[in-house]
Amino acid sequence: MKKVTKAVIPAAGLGTRVLPATKAQPKEMLVIVDKPSLQYIVEELVASGITDILIVTGRNKDSIEDHFDFSYELEHSLEKAGKFDLLKKVDDISSLANIYYVRQNHPLGLGHAILKAKSFVGEDPFVIALGDDIIYNANKPVAKQLIEVYEKYQTNIVGVQEVAKGDISKYGIVRPTDRYDEKNVKIADFIEKPKIEEAPSNLACLGRYLLTGDIFEYLEQTKPGKGGEIQLTDAILKMIKDDKTTLAYSFEGKRYDIGNKLGLLKANIEFGLRNEETKEGLLKYLKEEIKI
Ligand code: UTP
Repeated sequence: MKKVTKAVIPAAGLGTRVLPATKAQPKEMLVIVDKPSLQYIVEELVASGITDILIVTGRNKDSIEDHFDFSYELEHSLEKAGKFDLLKKVDDISSLANIYYVRQNHPLGLGHAILKAKSFVGEDPFVIALGDDIIYNANKPVAKQLIEVYEKYQTNIVGVQEVAKGDISKYGIVRPTDRYDEKNVKIADFIEKPKIEEAPSNLACLGRYLLTGDIFEYLEQTKPGKGGEIQLTDAILKMIKDDKTTLAYSFEGKRYDIGNKLGLLKANIEFGLRNEETKEGLLKYLKEEIKI
């Protein structure tokens, strides 16, 4: 069995839900406490054993490349000033993993972005981590959880979680069939953003996938769907109809959708409450504010 060492992070969306913050910078570079959200995702992948990461970028990609690169001037100044703690933090970023970049040119949907990874991935199994979904699990990062499921069943895997009824119409919802174990169920079908009464379950696809290189053949056949975009879920669905087993894996972790304003605020507050430097002050501040 081939070890999973590659991952793709699509980060070329327009981020219209958090405009104007995304006018001149990608939403994946928006800050959560003291790091851009993309760094949380890269760190999750690295902690999961991923060594090679392809980031699919769009316009305004320079800040992403600069962030994961060595910064001579900054590191030199920090060294001269004796700020060794900060120097280590900055220096560590540039040696996290082998990071590659490809441009999507036109943001024609998530499926189109993933298709750009075809030559990077080849035939290998690989993780997809959406650039605007941060998933927190201090014990076992979610990409590692997916890799373990792959090692057990060697199938395609979609990370899911149960969502509240009121949120069902925001997501791709899974129609489950055979149960493999407590956390894994075979997918029969997906319904994109169903009405509550038409939803086949409350299991929503939430930003993490582990797929084999087979997906590219299906992406190439996928015509633009909703909003003129090539949808990744349409290609996965075709793969399922071709009898390629795909499991919905209920992952463990707290997910933050930083692609919308409220999700971005929640992520900042919760990571702020976990951060040694900010937790005390933030908690005190929140207590005072909530009294009003
Ligand atoms: P979203 O649909 O949440 O991103 O895509 P978006 O299009 O930027 O969102 P809004 O609606 O305009 O606010 C999920 C992930 O897929 C990437 C995004 O960057 C995000 O990480 N994506 C989406 C691409 O890389 N290319 C695309 O064409 C679309």
